[in-house]
Amino acid sequence: MASTDDQSRDPKPPYPAAAGHPLTHTFRTMPDVLAFRDRALSDHDVARTHFFGPGDVYNLTHPSHLKRALVDDRDAFRKSEDFRVAFDDGLVAVEGKQWRRQRQALQPLFSRDSVRSYAGGMNEAIERRIDTWDHGDRIDLQAEMKRLTLEVLFATLFGRELELGGDAEIRSAAGDLQAWFAPTSYPLPAWVPTPARRRFKRGRRRLREAADELLAEAAGGPASSPAEAEDLLSLLVGIRQRGGADGDVLADEQLRDQVVTLIFAGHETTASTLALSLFELARRPALRDRFHREIDRLEGDPTLADVDALEITERILTETLRLYPPVYVLPRESTRQVAVDGYRIPADVPVWLGIRQVHRDGRFYDAPERFRPGRWRDGAPEERPDFAYAPFGGGPRLCIGRQFALLEAKLALAAIGRRFTLSRVEGGGSADSSPSRHAREPPLSADMTLRLAAGTEFYLRER
Ligand code: HEM
Repeated sequence: MASTDDQSRDPKPPYPAAAGHPLTHTFRTMPDVLAFRDRALSDHDVARTHFFGPGDVYNLTHPSHLKRALVDDRDAFRKSEDFRVAFDDGLVAVEGKQWRRQRQALQPLFSRDSVRSYAGGMNEAIERRIDTWDHGDRIDLQAEMKRLTLEVLFATLFGRELELGGDAEIRSAAGDLQAWFAPTSYPLPAWVPTPARRRFKRGRRRLREAADELLAEAAGGPASSPAEAEDLLSLLVGIRQRGGADGDVLADEQLRDQVVTLIFAGHETTASTLALSLFELARRPALRDRFHREIDRLEGDPTLADVDALEITERILTETLRLYPPVYVLPRESTRQVAVDGYRIPADVPVWLGIRQVHRDGRFYDAPERFRPGRWRDGAPEERPDFAYAPFGGGPRLCIGRQFALLEAKLALAAIGRRFTLSRVEGGGSADSSPSRHAREPPLSADMTLRLAAGTEFYLRER
């Protein structure tokens, strides 16, 4: 790496011409953050955008930059302050020693064996949701998948069955927490009281209350060590009761922050993956037939024993996570001045790692805008560098729930596919979508995460 003296002579990265004058970026990003980023960053691996609130944002959109920021030179890129705003001391936000201790404490719940032990509970929750569906029903697909994944999360990690028609507070609060990153709000200075920011505060308060209630209920039950703990809540309560070696990880607020983090991180993203996979299946009859043939070979509803054989199902999910990565940007902040591709990134500035941009780069994918699960077939000719595919991030901060999410998504997609075919109700879901984007792009909305736009409805047809 260049010395600091050399770097200080490097230019800062360019503002891309396609993004218009930097002073207009704030307004250009508001109507459609994805379209703005696609336009601005398509010809640049390193580029600057500018917003009235955060100021200059440094965008890195090459796999080698992701690897550097997440693995090789990760001390130079800390988690952004925004994570703290949303999740306080939750695992997703903390750094250093505190992060290591928390990750160690939670890891037993996400080991391969633990995750596989959730399969039965996942299946029951998935069946309970699907049993509420009837032939001819009309569903808002993203909303329905959110219900399903929240129910799975509560059943497996929290040992609690959510009421099918109830628990509305928790269900809507997670969505509100996203609003901190709403493109109509995020680019503005923090003192501007936007409706999204009010929604965010309401959602954060509600989720904290829900987490406190869950922990209070769990405090009644015994649990003493990670090995004996049956679920997340008893594990957390057990840690608190033992007092712990290091008090600072274990304060009540910090336990609460883990619960808030897992409620948020553990269901919205998987819901988007399922909704967008089903969206693509609905408009691709040939792919749907192949998918149906694969799952119709199963004896009954999919179980843990079946998952390895569901190759087409897996490729559909892999491709969905490529084309529509729910976490489309990883926000970081530079801890010191660094040089990237001959450009200078100063200390203490926002650095955004563009997962979506990397996943849609023609240098690493043939026909990158096309949904093509076949590209993931064994022996498929495409070759790509490390971090050209990173829907779960990478390095030590790789998503702790990756295996959980993939197992759940596979079981749910197969269970839905065995019983129902979905067809789109025309005309829905256009509220957040942009006419300027790729013509075949589904209606998407994006703030902290990317998802199928609210109101994108589908008819259910029993098979
Ligand atoms: C398809 C579903 C999912 C996607 C695409 C996804 C994506 C990600 C990504 C990209 C990160 C890294 C963030 C960063 O480096 O800034 C992350 C971290 C995390 N995810 Fe996931 N995630 C998913 C499902 C889950 C599930 C099911 C859980 C829990 C049940 C979960 C819990 C977490 C936590 C706690 C972290 C922080 C880990 C750490 O910093 O050590 N995620 N996720």
